[in-house]
Formats: sequence, structure tokens, C-alpha cells
Amino acid sequence: MSEVKKQGPNMAPGPRGPRGGGPGFRSVEKPKDIKKTLRRLLNYMKDYRLQLVIVFVALILSSLAGVAGTYFLKPIINGLVAFVGQDSPDLSGFIRTLLIMGIIYAVGAAATFLYNRLMLNVSTGTMRKIRVDMFRHMQSLPIKYYDTHTHGELMSRFTNDTDTLREILSRGLPHLVTSAVTLIGVFVMMLVISPLLTALIVIMLFIMLYAVRKIGGKSASFFIRQQRDLGEVNGYIEEMIVGQKVVKVFSREEKIIEDFEKLNEKLRKSGSGAHTFAGILMPIMANLSYVNYALTASIGAAMAISGYLDIGSIASFLQYTRTFSRPITEMSQQFNTLLAALAGAERIFEMMDAPPEVDEGSVTLVNAEIATDGTISESDRKTGKWAWKRVKPDGSVSYVRLRGDVRFENVVFGYEESKTVLNNVSFYAKPGQKIALVGSTGAGKTTITNLINRFYDVQSGRILYDGIDVREIKKDDLRRSLAMVLQDTHLFTGTVRDNIRYGRLDATDEEVERAAKIANADFFISHLPQGYDTMLTGDGANLSQGQRQLLAIARAAVADPPVLILDEATSSIDTRTEALIQSGMDKLMEGKTVFVIAHRLSTVRNADAIMVIENGEIIERGDHDFLIEQRGKYYQLYTGMFELE
Ligand SMILES: Nc1ncnc2c1ncn2[C@@H]1O[C@H](COP(=O)(O)OP(=O)(O)OP(=O)(O)O)[C@@H](O)[C@H]1O
Ligand SMILES: [Mg+2]
Repeated sequence: MSEVKKQGPNMAPGPRGPRGGGPGFRSVEKPKDIKKTLRRLLNYMKDYRLQLVIVFVALILSSLAGVAGTYFLKPIINGLVAFVGQDSPDLSGFIRTLLIMGIIYAVGAAATFLYNRLMLNVSTGTMRKIRVDMFRHMQSLPIKYYDTHTHGELMSRFTNDTDTLREILSRGLPHLVTSAVTLIGVFVMMLVISPLLTALIVIMLFIMLYAVRKIGGKSASFFIRQQRDLGEVNGYIEEMIVGQKVVKVFSREEKIIEDFEKLNEKLRKSGSGAHTFAGILMPIMANLSYVNYALTASIGAAMAISGYLDIGSIASFLQYTRTFSRPITEMSQQFNTLLAALAGAERIFEMMDAPPEVDEGSVTLVNAEIATDGTISESDRKTGKWAWKRVKPDGSVSYVRLRGDVRFENVVFGYEESKTVLNNVSFYAKPGQKIALVGSTGAGKTTITNLINRFYDVQSGRILYDGIDVREIKKDDLRRSLAMVLQDTHLFTGTVRDNIRYGRLDATDEEVERAAKIANADFFISHLPQGYDTMLTGDGANLSQGQRQLLAIARAAVADPPVLILDEATSSIDTRTEALIQSGMDKLMEGKTVFVIAHRLSTVRNADAIMVIENGEIIERGDHDFLIEQRGKYYQLYTGMFELE
């Protein structure tokens, strides 16, 4: 809480108060390691080294110009006083002083313009670099990272945290420097003019600071409470916007308005508490500074009358008195924002430091030419055939044909070390086989597919792909060799065509349309306003769930890899369309290894092998007829859910 107490009379949150609430929200907080964070920030700014040096010089110039300009009040007023009673005063010296003063102010103004302009450059450029690095790093993070960090939290690093940081870079830091230089400059000049009056000012200053601490401290606790309440209100709004449909389904409008009013009232109380004290502080400070001014003026006048000081000195001293307290209050305000910004920077760097997905794999996927005797050679052109290329330590190269043979050997896995989800799972899928995974919700079906493409790594046991441990295969190449239709479909902003082409970026329009036909998506696409060129926005909100799934299947179809994983791909599609997709897919799937996860009997009954997963273990394996005969779990699952013909 100590940093809050340092706050000046203006108790408003920094230039960017907390927004968005939710998980990203934090009340006033201290950065953990200021030095380290600053060093990293400076490192980001090192391309602008020259500009920063100029900025620094300009900052000093601009603040010193202000200090020096004020000093010129002294000779000018003294000159004017000297003119009193003269008939034809000699104005040349006076005009020269005026000119010098004018030049000093002009230099100050030019320096101010220069540093503002340059800092804008430096701050926007630095922020661009930081954002690009953040985004790039985000792409390298393992799926596990997203399991443990909410969207709101990650988003707020890209928005709130970068915003506060930019603000502090472009304005906060320069302000801090000018305030410090001005403070020192003014103090020195006051000492030069009158040590006695300076002592008086310093005493008054201590009294003012004492008042700030006393009243500000009280205010601070309310201030923290206000930020927390604001966060709650924002979080609540956010949640209710997202959950609007559920609210309406259960007619909870009245209830949530009531809850919202309670939160809002809490915010009103803490807000009014914070601002009452801030409101008391402001007039007290203002009055104290008037008292200060009056005292200085009276004592100064007395000194002038008794000949200790000239009028001009008193005039510039009074001017300094007014400028003295400003940098102090400004610095104390900026200090808080600076701390908040550094804490934000730390969150940004923390994300950048999150370990990226490790890829120790060295086996790559290459286009292959297969001679009649079965020997494999690498080819530059697209041959439609693929091979795994392994370079041995001695430099020799060996190729293994990509066929799509997947084997699990005693695989043990849990999302958290302590909680096993897959327990000693072993199975095989021969090239071209269609394997169905069935089992109750939460049994571990999706988990199995997550391991094949290495979203996660096994804890023990191994997964062989064409005889190669998947951990030895480069992740990009591994994932390129499998297409996956995920359990929840995601569509990107873009046309329908773009979205299908996401599966393989170099696919021609004809290939995209052929894939759509295979997925049986062609029919509904042709009925969209602009057909394949219809824009999809907001994750395809303008499509039905089933249509979204059809696009996802088309996307996998256009990728046309040797292994296909369909996770509940047809759960929202009507039975007739599904049968049509089946026939299309059967064509596509020829010679491919396919994993299908489905709850529907019709989807899995023609599979070569059906595996029943229960509590992370395979409890039955066989084809449909065999499993029905067994009268085991499979039989139960489906006779319970579907009527068998
Ligand atoms: N990202 C995750 N982090 C932690 N636990 C998870 C995660 N994903 C799944 N689990 C847990 O792992 C278990 C298996 O989940 P999985 O998604 O494999 O089930 P499923 O068989 O695909 O179920 P469904 O039929 O509902 O899709 C569940 O108990 C689930 O709670
Ligand atoms: Mg699942």
C-alpha cells in the first residue's frame, strides 16, 4: 500500500484506469523487479538510442529554459524600477535583456516540441516491436499455456498493459525528467536569490507533504477499494454480455439487474469515499500554497523595505514559489502510473518468457519418389507421395515412407501430473484403417487425438507413427501430415473460400470446391448470398452449427493428408447429410488412416475397428458385429441410446 500513499492530491487513477475488469484486472500493484524490467524496456528502445539522447538533451533544455526564463523577471523588473522618474531612459540594456529572455523561451518551446515529437516516434515504434514480439511468442506457446491462462488475461496484456506502457513511455517518463530537472533548477535559483526565503518555502513544503500523507493515506484505502469494486462491476458486465442468451433463456434479467445494482452501490460508496478525501485535500493544498505565497510575499516585502533584497528578486522568487510545488505533485502522481505501467510491462515480459513449445524433433516430411523396387528418393516437386526423412549423426540420410501407421504403446498421460487421464493405453491403427473411438463423456477420446499431434506429450510409453516416435518428428511436419477436425469448430474472419483454404493455402479454387463437395458443404454454400465469397465474421456467427462443422470437414478434406482425425465432426449434422458425407469421405479416405470419434452408431459401425474407452483405458476392441456379439460396454452404450435395426 505504500506506493498509494505517495500519491498527490489528484487521486484519479493513472491516465489509463483499469478497464475490462475480469481476470486481467488488478488493483494498484508494485512491479516485482523494477531494475530488471526497466533494463528490458531500455533494451527494446535501443534502436532509438540517438533519438533518446536528443530527447534527454531537449528535456533538460526545455526545463532549464523555463527556470532561466523566470529568473529574467528580476533584471526586467529592476530595470523598470530604475526607469521610474527618468525622462529619457536608456532602453538598450533593457531591450537586450528582453531579447535574451525571448530567445530562452523560444529555445525552450523548440526543445519541448522536439522531445514530444521524438518521444512519440520512440514510444510507438517500441510498442510496435513489443506487440510483434508478444504475438510471435504467443504463436509458439504450447496448448498447455492456454489451459492455464484465460482469454481475458491474455487479451488484457495486449490491450491494457501495452496501452499503459505506451502512455508512460510517450508522456510519463519525459514528465518525470522535466519535473526533476525543474525542481532542482528552481531550488538552486531560489537559493541563489534568497537562502532565507528558501528555508521558509522548504518548511511550508514539509507541512504540505504531511497533509498529503495524512489525508492521502486515508483516501488510499478507499481508492484501492474503488478500483476493486470497479473491477467487479466491469467483470459482471462482461460476463452478462457473453451470457446474454442464457440469461434470457432462464428469464434472469430482473435478478441480474438487482445484483448489478448491489455492485454498483458498492462502487458508489467507495468512489465517494475516495473522492471525499481527495476533495478535502485539493482545497487544503490550494489554500496552503496561497498562505505560502502570501507569507513569502510579506516577508519578501519586509526584506525589500529593509534593503536586503531588490524588488526584481522578490518577483522572480514568488514566481519560483509557484513552480516549486507543481513538479512535486506531478512527480508523485506520475510515480503511481509509472509503477502500474512497469507492473504491466512485467506481465508482458512474463508472457514472453513463458517457455515456448519445445521441438526437439529432427525427422522431417519430404516429397518422395518411389521407384519400382521400393527405394525412396527425395523430390523437389509435388509427387503426391511423402516420406519421413531422418538425417543420422554421421550425415547419412534414410527415408521411411509415410503411410499413416499409428501405434500407442503403454501410453500414460494426464493434463496435470498427478491426475492420470489415459492409463496404459495401447492400440494400433494400420495404414488405411478406419478406427472409431467411442466411450462416455470425459472418457479420454479427445485426449488420445491430442497426443497424436502432440498438443501434449505422453508421460510414459510412446506413440509410433510409421515406426517413428512422434517426439522425434518435427512438430510442424507431424501436424502437416495429419488433418484434424476439432471438437469445436473455429472459423476465421474471411470468405467461405478462405476458410476452407485454411487447410492448405496453395489449394486452387477447384480443389476448394471439390473438398466442399466431399464434405457435402457445397449445397448450403451455393445458397449463401455470395456463395464461396460470402464473408464470415465473428467465428461464423451467421452460420448454423452444422454448417460450421461441414466447413471444418471441407477444410480437412482440402488438406488431404494421409491421416485424418475427426473429433465428433458430425455431431450437429442431420443423419441424411451425415450419410452423404460418409460416402464422400469414403472416397477421400481411401488409403488413409482415419480416427473418428463419435457418439452416433451410424458413423462408427463401418469402422475397421472400434475401441471403447472408459476411464482412460481401452476396455473393448473389435468391429461392430463382434462388439455387439460380446454384449459388453459397446452393446450397452448403443442399445441404450439408439434402437438397433
Ligand atoms: N485441457 C485440459 N486440462 C485438464 N483436464 C482436461 C483437459 N481437457 C480434458 N481434461 C480432462 O480429461 C478427461 C478426458 O477428457 P476428453 O476431452 O479426452 O474426453 P472425451 O472422451 O473427449 O469426452 P467428450 O465425449 O465429452 O468429448 C476429462 O476428465 C477432462 O476433465
Ligand atoms: Mg472430446
